[in-house]
Formats: sequence, C-alpha cells, structure tokens
Amino acid sequence: MDEKIIRDYLQQANGIMQEDASGCAHADVLETVQIRCFDSLDSTNAYAKNWVKRGIRLPALVLADAQTQGRGRLGRSFFSPPGGLYMSMAVECKGIHPGMLTTLAAVSVLEAAQAMQLPSLHIKWVNDILLQGKKIGGILAEGITSRNAMDSAVIGIGLNTTKVQFPLELQRSAGSLAGGQLIQREKLAAFIFFHFFSNLPNIPRHMASYRENCINIGKQVRFEQGERCISATVKMWMTAALCGCKLRTAS
Ligand code: BTN
Repeated sequence: MDEKIIRDYLQQANGIMQEDASGCAHADVLETVQIRCFDSLDSTNAYAKNWVKRGIRLPALVLADAQTQGRGRLGRSFFSPPGGLYMSMAVECKGIHPGMLTTLAAVSVLEAAQAMQLPSLHIKWVNDILLQGKKIGGILAEGITSRNAMDSAVIGIGLNTTKVQFPLELQRSAGSLAGGQLIQREKLAAFIFFHFFSNLPNIPRHMASYRENCINIGKQVRFEQGERCISATVKMWMTAALCGCKLRTAS
C-alpha cells in the first residue's frame, strides 16, 4: 500500500463526507495525520501502540499488507494473509468510553463501504463485521494509559479484502469482501479513517446507525461472566462484550 494514494483518497473522502450527518469537516487532519505503510508487520496495533508511546503527534495511521501475529479479541489471533486490509488508527480520546471507539469504528467501516458502493455490511457483537452472515472483519480497540487515565487509543481494523483459503476452523464462519470486484484497499482505509476521525467529536451520535446495523439488537443472547451464564435480550449495545465476556446467540 502507498501513503501518497491514501492521502489522495483522504482528500476525496473530505469532499464526499464533509456534508454527511456530522456536518463537520476536518480538512486539517489531511495535512497532519501521520501514515506508515508496511509490506508485513507482526501487528499494526502493536506497532501503533509503540509509536504512540514514543510520543508521536496524533492522529496516526499504520497499515500492513500482511500480519504475522495479528491480534484479535480475548487474546485470540487474527488470520492476516497478504492482500487483506490491516489498519490501526491512533487517536487522542480523553474522556471517551473505549466501547464507543469500537462501535464508531464499526459504523465507520459500514459507512466507508457504502460510500464506495460495496455490498452492505452488518455488525455483530460490537466488533465483528459481517457480509451475508459471514465474518469478513473485526475490530480491536486498545487504550493507552498515562497516569492512570486513558488519553489515547489504537483502534485496529482487519478486513478480508481478498479471496483466500481460510484455515479449516474459519471456513464455515469467515467470508471475504472481495466478490467479483477488486477492493481498492487504500481508498477503503482512507474512507474509514476519515469517517472515524470526523465523527469522534460527535460521539455518541453514531449509535443510531450502530443500532440500525447491529444484528444482535433485540435478540436473545447468553453470555458467560466468570462462572455465571447469563441470558438476556440485547437492548442497546453489548456492554458485556466490551467487558470481555464470551457471548453466544441463545439457542
Ligand atoms: C477480532 O475479530 O477479534 C478483532 C480483530 C482485529 C484485527 C485487527 S487487524 C489490524 C489490527 N492489528 C491487529 O493485530 N489486530 C487488529
């Protein structure tokens, strides 16, 4: 991936999206955002977190064509073969609940896909991105604390944008955004970043779109919290998921 192309698409996103629901443009971010692209990294989240800890100016965006140790929720690994979109956005987020960053990232993926006229996507369990019921991507937000306060965060997004042979354990549940068409990854990354960054000051306004597109809302779920197994109807957003509980759809 190429930094210059991403910057060009950020300009384009600014033109297309500045009149959206947020109504606020962030033209200045286009000049100030720091971008790094790699052929391969262990994890874009790990790289971005180290970069932030070294005191860089925010926001920042890290992308890789492949990851050797892609990280998922609950300490799981994230399958990251070449050709996928693996990006981490580092932003200041004083006073923002970490769950809000995850939901905003999910909505930003959906909005970016819509702006690019890609198939419509849905959200599951806060941080899974679905296409026709199959998981095509995930989100992992990690806070960075200093003096006991979370003042910045790295929000990692992984999307399957190429057709690959999934490992056996993923074959039933995983899908890809690449149908007949080639996905322009730089454009998708730029549109996601632009949408996310522009809407940060408006949190929690994105929750209306989140509720509309989250397939769990109104459904019965079961979740494990330590030894306890709790049954509930999802009304708003998945606080339990954000607290690291294991979630299952009730059968
Ligand atoms: C999940 O589905 O459990 C979340 C997956 C998040 C994967 C992305 S890929 C880019 C960023 N870097 C990582 O190591 N993880 C996130």
